[in-house]
Amino acid sequence: MTAAVHVEGLVKEFGDRRVVDGVDLTIPEGTVLGLLGPNGAGKTTTVRMLATLIRPDGGQARIGGYDLVKQANQVRRLIGLTGQYASVDEGISGRENLYMIARLLDLPRRRARERVDELLEQFDLVDAASRPAGKYSGGMRRRLDLAASMVGDPALLYLDEPTTGLDPRSRNNLWDSVRELVADGTTVLLTTQYMEEAEALADSIIVMDKGRVIASGTSAELRARVGGQVLRIRTARPEHLEQLARRLTAMRVRNFRVDRENRLVSVPIVTEAELTGMIHLLAASRLPIAGVDTHLPSLDEVFLTLTDKPREPADPDATIVLQRVF
Ligand SMILES: Nc1ncnc2c1ncn2[C@@H]1O[C@H](COP(=O)(O)OP(=O)(O)OP(=O)(O)O)[C@@H](O)[C@H]1O
Ligand SMILES: [Mg+2]
Repeated sequence: MTAAVHVEGLVKEFGDRRVVDGVDLTIPEGTVLGLLGPNGAGKTTTVRMLATLIRPDGGQARIGGYDLVKQANQVRRLIGLTGQYASVDEGISGRENLYMIARLLDLPRRRARERVDELLEQFDLVDAASRPAGKYSGGMRRRLDLAASMVGDPALLYLDEPTTGLDPRSRNNLWDSVRELVADGTTVLLTTQYMEEAEALADSIIVMDKGRVIASGTSAELRARVGGQVLRIRTARPEHLEQLARRLTAMRVRNFRVDRENRLVSVPIVTEAELTGMIHLLAASRLPIAGVDTHLPSLDEVFLTLTDKPREPADPDATIVLQRVF
C-alpha cells in the first residue's frame, strides 16, 4: 500500500469565503512536503480536509490510492495528525495519554504498553512519563503530541506548525524526530511559517497565500526565483561609497543599493561572469575596500518576495536605491 498523496483543485468555502481555492499538490511516498504560508493562507484548512476532519467543497484527492471522501475510513487508517494546537489531555500523565490512544486504536493491553514505552523513549519523555501533561513545558507537549500521532504507526503524518513557539533546542529535537520517522519510510505533510523549517525537513515546498498555491519547488528552485546572489562591498571610508556608486553607475551596473549606515554597496549577481566582472571593476577602481562577501537570498526573503508582503521599511536617510534599467 502506498502512502502517496495526490490532490487536484481542492476547494473549501466558509460562507461566501473561499479559503482554499483550487489547491494542487503531490507528495510522493516516503518524502516530506512543506506547506508554507502566512497566517490565514489556508494551511490548516487544507490539512483538516486531507485528514477527513472537514469535507472539501470541490476537487479530488487520493491518499494511498483511496478516495479522500468516498473511502474516508480507509484514509483515516493511514494517517496520523499533529494539530496546530496541543491536543493532549492535561489531567493525566504523558504515559496515560499515549496508552489511552493505543487502546482506542484497539491495540491489546500488552502491545499498547510496549508501544507507549517505545514512544516515550523515542520522544525523550521517559523521565516525565508519569507527570500530568498539564505540567509539561511547551516543547514536551509538542513531543507528546507528536508521539500521540505516531501510536498507530501511520504511513502518512500531518504536522501542522509542529514547532511554533518552541525554543531552538526543542525545535531541533523535534526536527530530529521527524527525520527519524522519514528515514523509516513515513510520508510527511508539514505546514510551517518558517522557511528555515521547510528547508531543514522538506524535499519539496509549496507556498500558499490567500487559499492558492503561489509557488512550488525545492528550496533551491524557490531561491532561484528571487535571483542569484548578492555581492556586498564595504568601503574603507564613507566618501569612497559615493565614488564607488558613481563608478558602478558609469559602468552600467544595475539595481545596486547603497547602504550608508553600514557603509555597504550591495550588487545583485546573477551569472558568474557578472561576479568576475565586478571583481575586476573593483580592482580597477583602486578604491580602498574594507570587506567583500556574497550571500544567497534567505528563504525568508524569497517568501516575502513571493507573497508580496512589505518588508521592514527602509530608512530613507540611510538607504538610497539606485536603479538603472536598460
Ligand atoms: N471553521 C471556520 N469557519 C470560518 N472561517 C474559517 C474556519 N476555519 C478557518 N477559517 C478561515 O479560513 C482562513 C484560513 O484559515 P487557516 O486556519 O486554514 O489558515 P492557516 O494558513 O492555517 O493560518 P495560521 O498560520 O494562522 O495557522 C482564515 O481566514 C480563517 O479565518
Ligand atoms: Mg494554521
